[in-house]
Amino acid sequence: MSKKRLLTGLQPSGALHIGNYFGALKPFVDVYTDYDSMLMIADLHALTSLRDPQALRQSTTDIVKDYITSGVDPKKAILFRQSDVLEHTELAWIFECLVTMPFLMQAHAYKDKVAKGMEANAGLFNYPMLMAADILMYDTEVVPVGEDQRQHVEYAREAVTKFNNAYGETFIAPQERVLAGVGIVPGTDGQKMSKSYKNTIPLFGTTEEIKKAVMGIVTDSSGNRPENVYAIHKLFRAEAELEALYEEHKGKYKDLKEALAADIDAFIAPMRERRASITNADVETVLKDGAVRARERASKKMAEVRKAVGLA
Ligand code: ADP
Ligand code: TRP
Repeated sequence: MSKKRLLTGLQPSGALHIGNYFGALKPFVDVYTDYDSMLMIADLHALTSLRDPQALRQSTTDIVKDYITSGVDPKKAILFRQSDVLEHTELAWIFECLVTMPFLMQAHAYKDKVAKGMEANAGLFNYPMLMAADILMYDTEVVPVGEDQRQHVEYAREAVTKFNNAYGETFIAPQERVLAGVGIVPGTDGQKMSKSYKNTIPLFGTTEEIKKAVMGIVTDSSGNRPENVYAIHKLFRAEAELEALYEEHKGKYKDLKEALAADIDAFIAPMRERRASITNADVETVLKDGAVRARERASKKMAEVRKAVGLA
């Protein structure tokens, strides 16, 4: 039996933290070989918010290294860059001609920016149709995403309906899947760990960076156990061992933080080494190969689409 097609995308938007690892990278790595998997760096989507060419290039390279380091074998999945497959923008345009402005106005990504009084560019407005193109181009069945992206997958399903009604059965409806991660990883201040809250522990940080972040974890002096420390610690050590450790060092928050920093460092050190051995040239090779394989699929699908709509 052939494997189901899976595709997911990530915007190259800065260094990853341990919340990203346990919430997104690891759950993906755990399942991706059960599918015919495609992993796409959404650099065109990143242009809706980023205007720094050097940063975009750097983040793209970094994220490829991060995924390979975390266990994605580029031979077992198609790892590619969105902008390398020109068909995505072409298909997005075709979908944009099928959906209405009021429909796109309901999309969270756009609505939230407008609600905050921020300037929303037309790219952001059309964002869901580009994402629909990413997904539908490859007859994707499964789309692993975080909760915040669920609505975008619904938009992709709407594009399927609109297209198939207008031009005949061409696309299949994808399903979103929130992968079983560890739930929300708290940051050093107890809120959700997020790049935008500056409360992160970097995934590939140096020993010093990790220590600095961990020593900065906010603890309250009331309870028996520094919960903010414990909540992160249990990602790195079995709970039975932790219970004993926290009992032994009861009230000694500094010792417990030092133990946590050491455990995180022991976990990350081998990954850091692996990551350092991946060169920019390696990344280029992976992306080139991914582009060839993705294009082969995309060009076939687009030939079908062009014919269906009358462009060919
Ligand atoms: P950030 O909030 O740091 O900007 P993103 O929104 O770019 O993170 O999320 C990238 C992926 O990592 C998503 O799949 C998201 O669900 C996951 N993720 C982000 N922060 C956490 C967290 N604190 N705990 C678990 N998963 C997270
Ligand atoms: N919009 C997604 C995000 O910001 C990234 C993305 C782009 C994506 N294209 C996709 C995710 C296709 C899944 C499938 O996280």
